[in-house]
Amino acid sequence: MAIKTIGVVGAGQMGGGIAQVAAVSGFDVIMSDIKDEFVQRGLNTISKSLDRFVKKEKMTQAEKDAAMERIKGTTELSDMKDADFVVEAATENESLKLGIFRDLDNICGKDIILSSNTSSISITKIAAATKRPQKVIGMHFMNPVPMMVLVEVIRGLETDDETYQTVEDLAKKLGKTPVPANDFPGFISNRILMPMINEAIYALFEGVGTPESIDAIMKLGMNHPMGPLTLADLIGLDTCLAIMNVLYEGFGDPKYRPCPLLKKYVDAGFLGRKTGRGFYTYES
Ligand code: CAA
Repeated sequence: MAIKTIGVVGAGQMGGGIAQVAAVSGFDVIMSDIKDEFVQRGLNTISKSLDRFVKKEKMTQAEKDAAMERIKGTTELSDMKDADFVVEAATENESLKLGIFRDLDNICGKDIILSSNTSSISITKIAAATKRPQKVIGMHFMNPVPMMVLVEVIRGLETDDETYQTVEDLAKKLGKTPVPANDFPGFISNRILMPMINEAIYALFEGVGTPESIDAIMKLGMNHPMGPLTLADLIGLDTCLAIMNVLYEGFGDPKYRPCPLLKKYVDAGFLGRKTGRGFYTYES
């Protein structure tokens, strides 16, 4: 079946970014979140991101307007019934995602592929919450979605070849490069990235360096585009902690234990850029 309309569950930084690239690539988009306030904030972020492309003359104002027109915001998950393909990008929480997939399984036609942008949770487990495990797959975008070319594609135990091929083709249509990974905690991206970020937080916790020196060493010495603590603030410290917990519990190996300072920051509500404070402070 040709995909014309993409449903995106979640209008946060990942969901909004996915909705944006889908709309720019010519797809109609249904973007849902639980509160209208979140939907409006998502649309606003998309508009601002597209403005940057217009300013750089990579897109015309008319193209931006047309892309915005293609995105329909909603607070009703049942509106996903009109989607030909769904990407779930809700908060990184297993029971929340399992509930959403159970609901989507009832809402969407039985042949519709249900994908998850989870950064670490088992696709096999998410798939098992539905009656269509062959049609469930991981489609993991990177932040900021409009800029990053990778889509990590994760097959669950029962994901069929047709589903995999459809997602690979769709990722290319969105201007991304799909790369396969097997279904293990954190897949490939976060199996490697998140322990590095967690170790940077330990270095701060133990007084090995300041946030500035830790980030400068990784930027200047390893040619990383941003230091690990700046990146943690971009990803969201709550998401970083959730991923570390999936690695820690999934492998049962103490090398993945989340740094106590990361836990403390999350407890304090210092979640990074989105709350204006993480390892650094940000003006809104
Ligand atoms: N929308 C539109 N344009 C954007 C943008 C956005 N959201 N974010 C950045 N840009 C553009 C800027 O306008 C700028 O464009 P020009 O160069 O044409 O002027 C360009 O990106 C560079 O931006 P900046 O100069 O502000 O900053 P930068 O050079 O540091 O680049 C970056 C920003 C692309 C984010 C770069 O720092 C980078 O690649 N950082 C690493 C990001 C990364 O590792 N992402 C993966 C995170 S892990 C993840 O997402 C998965 C997970 O499961 C946790």
